[in-house]
Amino acid sequence: MRLAQAVYNNAQLILAAGKTLEDWEIDGLRRRFPQITVRVGDPLLDEWVDFQDDSREQTVAVTVNRRMARMMQTVRSKLGTQTALEGPDLIALQVAVHEMMIYIQQNPVAAAMLMHMAEGSDYLQEHAANVFYLGLLIGSTIREYVYLERKRTTRARDLAVRFGMNLTPLAIGCLLHDLGMIALEPLLNKPGPLDATEREQVNRHPLLGAEMLPKQMDAVCRMVIRTHHENCCGTGYPSSVPSDSLHVFSRVIRVADAYDAGTSRRCYRQAKSAVRVLWEMSVGPLKDLYDPVVIRILTSLIQPFPIGAKIRIHDGRYVVVVRHNRKHPFRPTAIIAFDEHGNKLKKSQLRQPIDLSQNEDIRLIRYAEEDLAFLNDTVDFVAAPVSAGQAGEVDSMFNMVYP
Ligand SMILES: [Fe+2]
Ligand SMILES: [Fe+2]
Repeated sequence: MRLAQAVYNNAQLILAAGKTLEDWEIDGLRRRFPQITVRVGDPLLDEWVDFQDDSREQTVAVTVNRRMARMMQTVRSKLGTQTALEGPDLIALQVAVHEMMIYIQQNPVAAAMLMHMAEGSDYLQEHAANVFYLGLLIGSTIREYVYLERKRTTRARDLAVRFGMNLTPLAIGCLLHDLGMIALEPLLNKPGPLDATEREQVNRHPLLGAEMLPKQMDAVCRMVIRTHHENCCGTGYPSSVPSDSLHVFSRVIRVADAYDAGTSRRCYRQAKSAVRVLWEMSVGPLKDLYDPVVIRILTSLIQPFPIGAKIRIHDGRYVVVVRHNRKHPFRPTAIIAFDEHGNKLKKSQLRQPIDLSQNEDIRLIRYAEEDLAFLNDTVDFVAAPVSAGQAGEVDSMFNMVYP
C-alpha cells in the first residue's frame, strides 16, 4: 500500500505522501497514533480512478496551524505575568494575523482541513489556531453575506463595502475567542462533569476574555468575543442575545468553534467523528443553534468522509470515497472496491465511481467502526435543515458562492 497523504502528528511531518508501506507498518502507525488519519492508496484503484487531490489543502492547514499555535503560545506566556493583553502584544498579534490572512488569500483551498492534537499537547492553543483557520475560510467564502448581514444588523444604509467585507475583526476574534478560558484551564481539564459553580465560571469566559483585551482593541472584535457562545435560536451565554441582532462574525465563530471542539479529544470524552459532528450541527439535534447559511458553508468546506475512506454499504460491500460533494456532503462520489468479505475487487470487477447523491438506494452503514444509521434518516440534506422560507435564502446564498 502507498501513503495517499502525508502523516502529521501535532503539525509535525512524520511520513511524506507517496511512501510505500507494508500492511504491518500501517497497522503500527494506526496503533501508535490513534488520533491521526492514516490514509492509504491502492495502486490498482489509483490507476482506475482519479481521486480528488487535497494535498495542497493539508499543506495550507499545517502552515496556518503552526503559525497561529506559536502566536497563541506567546499570548499565553504573556498572560503568565500579566492579567490582560497590552497594546504592544496586540501589534505582534495583528502582524501574525495579517500575514496569515494574506497567505490564505494567496493559497486558496477547496476544502478545510483541521489539525488535531496528540496526547499531552495544548488544547487551547490548537483550538485557537483551528478556529482561526476555519472561521477565516468560512468568512472568505461568504464575504457577500458578511457584508449584507453587517449592513442589516447595524442598520447602516451606506456601509462602505471595503469596511463591511473586512474580515480582520473576525480573524482576531477567532484567534482570541477563548482568551477568558486560559485562567480557567484546570476546569477544562477536569475529567468529570462540572458542578454548578464551575459551570457558572466557564459561562463567564466570553466576558472575561473581552475584558482581557487591550483598550485599543477594535470594538467589533471585543463584541464578537463577548458573544461567541450565543445561539441563533436566542439561547446561549452569557446574555441570550436575540438572534436577529447577533453579529455575523459571532455566528461564524460559533460554528467554527463548535465544529473544532466536537471533533477534538477531551479529557472527559473521545473525539467525535467529522461526519457525526457535521450531521449533529446541520440536520441533527443541534441545528437550531447555528446560522443556516454558515452551517451550509461549513458542510461544503469540511469533508465528512476523507478522500480514500472505506465505507461499508447496506449489502455488505465497501465503497471508497473518490470525490467530495459540496452540495450533498453526506453523499460523496465513491467506487465499490471491496466485496462483502472485505476482499479487494479485481480490475475486471471494478465499475465507474458512483455519485451517491443520485443513488439514494445505496445506504452507508459503517465507517471506521462507527455505525452510520443516523445518516439514513436524513438523506435529504438540502431540505432538512431549515424552514421553507429560510431554505430559499440559504439556497440563493449557496448558489451565489458556488455558481
Ligand atoms: Fe468559548
Ligand atoms: Fe472555543
